[in-house]
Amino acid sequence: MQKGKVDALLGIVFGDEGKGKVVDVFTPKYDVVARFAGGPNAGHTIIFEGKKFVLRSIPSGIFDEGKLNIIGNGCVVAPDLFMLEARELETAGYDLRSRLHISRRAHLILPTHRVLDRAYEAAKGKNKVGTTGKGIGPTYSEKAARTSLRVGDIGNNFLEKYNALKARHLQILSDMHFTDFDITDDEKRWMEGVEYMRSYQLTDTENELHQLLAEGKNILAEGAQGTLLDIDHGTYPFVSSSSTCTGGVCTGLGVSPKDIGEVFGIFKAYSTRVGAGPFPVELFDETGDRIREIGHEYGAVTGRNRRCGWLDLVALRYAININGVTQLIMMKGDVLDTFDTIRVCVAYEKDGVRTTSMPYDTEGWTAVYEDLPGWKTDLTAMTDKSQFPAALADYIRYIERAMGVPVTIVSVGPDRAQTVMM
Ligand code: GDP
Ligand code: IMO
Ligand code: MG
Repeated sequence: MQKGKVDALLGIVFGDEGKGKVVDVFTPKYDVVARFAGGPNAGHTIIFEGKKFVLRSIPSGIFDEGKLNIIGNGCVVAPDLFMLEARELETAGYDLRSRLHISRRAHLILPTHRVLDRAYEAAKGKNKVGTTGKGIGPTYSEKAARTSLRVGDIGNNFLEKYNALKARHLQILSDMHFTDFDITDDEKRWMEGVEYMRSYQLTDTENELHQLLAEGKNILAEGAQGTLLDIDHGTYPFVSSSSTCTGGVCTGLGVSPKDIGEVFGIFKAYSTRVGAGPFPVELFDETGDRIREIGHEYGAVTGRNRRCGWLDLVALRYAININGVTQLIMMKGDVLDTFDTIRVCVAYEKDGVRTTSMPYDTEGWTAVYEDLPGWKTDLTAMTDKSQFPAALADYIRYIERAMGVPVTIVSVGPDRAQTVMM
């Protein structure tokens, strides 16, 4: 029997590209959907049949009965937030316990990790990252420092281990003179969440994946965040703390690079970024406001304004190379429906120097644009590429030519049905 493959679907810019929507669309073609990185900092929106869900830790394949969903070892899990998210899905009629496995090697976000997240941000002052406040950085830091707790620790002497780690956190907070917190209620819900999680299948998901691949089953690895938020390859230090790229699929699920098949790189027809950090294509004018308004560019997790700008081909090329992207997926084409001219960033410039490669630090670089004509047509009801206006077809061809990778899907609205295969 031929071995199965792991296809990766990755956000290749600053996150919020529409990963949740496309994973949901792709799920029928796969046997397993697995998250390999991140935690409740993610917010993946899925809309179908008049229903809307925003998933944080649970993979976006959860709505398809009979498919296995996995929260992999590379993820971090907050039991209280997991319980909230899972109960919402249970109330909506989805039986999660039969279709969700959580890696025992995934790390636990404690209530005090969230307080530490706030304390570290406050200490950074004007250099703060603008994190989601979910305790992501402190949890991954402790994973690397080998002091963290894992899902597999839920069981023997758990309370003892929890209290020891919490005491260490409280000591750090006291040393930082950070006193603006009260975790009493949070901790109560967190402990309730731990009890709730015990009723789930907490397993060695790496071994399960090996077995499934050997049986010829195909797996879709659902990315979280995006390449420019990757701890190694992003705009450090304004990044998240996990490996969001194809390499992260291997470490975050325990699969071999030889098992990776297609790599879907997902991007919006324009750019957004939420949180702090350099963003050469950012628009501070009414065009930026207009993109934000039409695209509803407000964070799914924190409700913050997303910063908006035109498509950045320097960033896209970099991400395609880092990830080995084999197919591009362009989202939110419909958001640009009314613009006369659509700009594309083809290079960065600073002090008279022009580059098409990603600089070490993008601070201070400005965007060099080429202008393309807008299509001035409502795309939202289109279901076939033959309906696409010529200017949109040209825009897609322009991107394909510049990137050397085909665009195989164009999304024209948030609903599952508004997806055009190319
Ligand atoms: P993710 O984190 O990558 O899963 O993306 P988010 O869910 O955070 O953000 C994407 C937002 O765009 C959500 O509100 C989606 O419902 C919405 N969306 C996805 N695809 C499209 C599209 O093609 N057009 C429009 N207008 N909205 C879309
Ligand atoms: P999805 O999966 C967009 C950003 C935060 C902040 C930085 C670090 O929905 O695309 P963290 O809380 O991770 O320590 O924050 O990363 N960030 C995201 N931005 N989409 C996300 O996830 C993000 N997850 C984190 O805004 O700038
Ligand atoms: Mg999101």
